[in-house]
Amino acid sequence: MAVQQTQVIDVLKTTFVPGLKKMLLSVGMLREVKVLVDKVYIAVTIPKISDEDVAKLKEVITNRLKQIGATEVEIEIDFKKEQKIKYMIAVGSGKGGVGKSTVSVNLAVSLAKLGKKVGVLDADVHGPNVPIMFGITDRPYVNEEKRLIPIEKYGVQVMSLGFLLEDQSTPVIWRGPLVTKAIEQLYNDVEWGELDYMLIDLPPGTGDAALTVTQTLPLKYGLVVTTPQNVAIADASKSLRMFKEMKIPVLGVIENMSYFICPKCGAKSEIFGHGGGEKMSFENGVPFLGKVPLEMKVREGGDKGIPAAAMDEETETKKAFLEIAKKVIEIAEK
Ligand SMILES: Nc1ncnc2c1ncn2[C@@H]1O[C@H](COP(=O)(O)OP(=O)(O)OP(=O)(O)O)[C@@H](O)[C@H]1O
Ligand SMILES: [Mg+2]
Repeated sequence: MAVQQTQVIDVLKTTFVPGLKKMLLSVGMLREVKVLVDKVYIAVTIPKISDEDVAKLKEVITNRLKQIGATEVEIEIDFKKEQKIKYMIAVGSGKGGVGKSTVSVNLAVSLAKLGKKVGVLDADVHGPNVPIMFGITDRPYVNEEKRLIPIEKYGVQVMSLGFLLEDQSTPVIWRGPLVTKAIEQLYNDVEWGELDYMLIDLPPGTGDAALTVTQTLPLKYGLVVTTPQNVAIADASKSLRMFKEMKIPVLGVIENMSYFICPKCGAKSEIFGHGGGEKMSFENGVPFLGKVPLEMKVREGGDKGIPAAAMDEETETKKAFLEIAKKVIEIAEK
């Protein structure tokens, strides 16, 4: 009896994977389905399970497909590669525009300069800015295993949702389940290789994407970016609470735009007030990682795709990020 491809997919959708207690297509990726009248070929990639469970899974699928008329069933199962990432750190903030992306990008470049293997995962589904800040215009290459290869820039492996969108300037309306799927793909279906650090640039706030990252990715730490003024601190505290509720240790707080450096005379002024980030760290019992000045060259670098940390020029910001990177290493690896 002829079998339809949709019938095969329905079977796969409703088959439990022994050992994982989840439906096949919710944990696995269907690489291929071929149906030739009553002969079926399936190739799937799933998380690692035992040989025994693989045999059981094949048996269940084969029996179910035979019930709907298949006479020959061939199933190829391979395993998702384990990502080897030592320290996965999500960079969050309570509100937008405080400099999460700037911090993620510059901290990543600084960690790489200190000899670490570093990746940045841009999980900002609503405004993936990381490609612009890194000045990346290429699209990632997909290997034979259908895995995406991150793009290397300034010694950092970069992957962003922005790379996968047809047109980065058209807003995409993401529903909750799509956000979850997209973020899982940016982690699971990317050939990250071995990394010491992965920084995950979150969208502002504690919405779907931030929650997905904290719930589904194996985070070691959360990191909070704030600006010095009181209102910003109140917002940033929400992000701190989210990490605490999810039982993710907070590596520390970074205060961005701490003081303004006049491009003409070099004078410093604390336009957003003073000491907010330090106070917040102290009150919440988490480390204070350092201050980043508000410097024109940083914004210009962000727009041009040359992060301050990657510039030849020795700016205050470059120095600040290098010091913060050293502190991050000291705390994360202690
Ligand atoms: N220390 C700084 N000095 C100068 N400009 C900065 C600094 N930090 C951030 N900016 C600029 O401020 C803008 C917002 O920064 P950024 O995009 O990093 O914030 P964000 O928190 O990631 O924002 P969003 O919430 O939209 O993701 C950018 O144009 C960036 O170049
Ligand atoms: Mg951002």
